[in-house]
Amino acid sequence: MNEHDSERISGILEGQGYQSSENAENADLVILNTCSIREKAEQKFFSELGRLRSLKGANPGMTIAVAGCIAQQEGAGILSKAPYVDLVFGPSDIGHLSDMTARRGKSPLVNVGGDPDYHRKRLPARRTGKLKAWVSIMYGCDNFCTYCVVPYLRGRERSRTPQDIVGEVSELAGQGYKEITLLGQNVNSYGKGLAKEMDFPELLHMVNGVAGIERIRFVTSHPKDLSDRLIAAMRDLPKVCKALHLPVQSGSDRILAAMNRRYTHGEYLDKVKALRQAMPDIVLTTDIIAGFPGETEEDFDLTMQLLADAKFDGIFAFKYSKRPGTAALKLQGHLDASIKEDRLSRVLQLQNPITLQKNREYIGRTLELLLEGNSKKGTTLTGRTRGNKAVNVSAPHDLIGSLVNVLITGAGANSLSGRLCE
Ligand code: 5AD
Ligand code: SF4
Repeated sequence: MNEHDSERISGILEGQGYQSSENAENADLVILNTCSIREKAEQKFFSELGRLRSLKGANPGMTIAVAGCIAQQEGAGILSKAPYVDLVFGPSDIGHLSDMTARRGKSPLVNVGGDPDYHRKRLPARRTGKLKAWVSIMYGCDNFCTYCVVPYLRGRERSRTPQDIVGEVSELAGQGYKEITLLGQNVNSYGKGLAKEMDFPELLHMVNGVAGIERIRFVTSHPKDLSDRLIAAMRDLPKVCKALHLPVQSGSDRILAAMNRRYTHGEYLDKVKALRQAMPDIVLTTDIIAGFPGETEEDFDLTMQLLADAKFDGIFAFKYSKRPGTAALKLQGHLDASIKEDRLSRVLQLQNPITLQKNREYIGRTLELLLEGNSKKGTTLTGRTRGNKAVNVSAPHDLIGSLVNVLITGAGANSLSGRLCE
């Protein structure tokens, strides 16, 4: 979401005649687009801001702007902490960027009011890739999971109209994009509040009809809103990839309730079962928070059990991080950093062999790959399967951008390797 916001910011600036600079030293305008989902992201931002301060010392004409969720959270507070910052604007204020940059060099400006019409705007984007594109379908979140700062910073759920979304996807198809990832904090509740209400499966049907697009993905899904209709749409629509990121956060019903997630361990596993029944090959990934306030060893064991049972293809695991303004801050039983650390590493130790085993199961199978470019090592090309697994393969460069079939011959924890089929 945040990276796509950066693409939008770049798109607007490009429209104003700005060119991107390779390094910050000589830039006229530097924008830090920030994330505040966890404390670590915030620490990174403040150290980067310190670096920019010295660059501005050497280049006093430089305008420094802070965008994104920390900007939204801190507002004018950024200026008191860092008086050398010129501009502060929130995620829903990007649409006014041209007006803001037009007054560069004047007194500092803070714009975190949030534009109520943001979701109705068609903003340009300067996309980083040529094959894969993100498309926002909704902004904000109404779920208020007790650990999460997003609803406070990105506001209430607002859906873009299907006409706008399909229009953008069609334009991207015309430009040669092959893969679309639909973005929203909770895509499964897409459509609420539209003049003509519709749901996410309906939107998937519409996007599936756009000629030229080969693959459709979406993030993120909330388990409580994962409907049978969505499972059926995923199963039946040929362009929708059989891959789902379904954050579970914890395996303990007590902790899930304290997180305000509104499903239980059993209900979550039932959804996993239904998904695998409908799509035996589905690639499932999840998010885990280790060390939520009040989490006991018994609660944590239930998370470990869930991971052992669900056998995810991959997980993202985080230590619980205190976020300003969230309900979890006020809960009893905040845990020491060492306990959170220990549980995080146990989660990863359990998952790593499962991820490897899942990848090894592909050896000997033929998979469709969208070839995206050079691999990190540079000697082979790399691409992604429909399940979003990275595969390295020897193939001629002119195949970049095409769909090819590859026989999988090897598997590591992070990627697979294979051979082009004739
Ligand atoms: N502490 C730790 N992890 C968090 N996440 C969101 N808020 C927090 C927090 N306060 C994680 C959740 C979510 C992912 C995007 O970030 O696992 O799914
Ligand atoms: Fe945060 Fe929960 Fe909304 Fe996800 S669903 S953005 S975790 S409040």
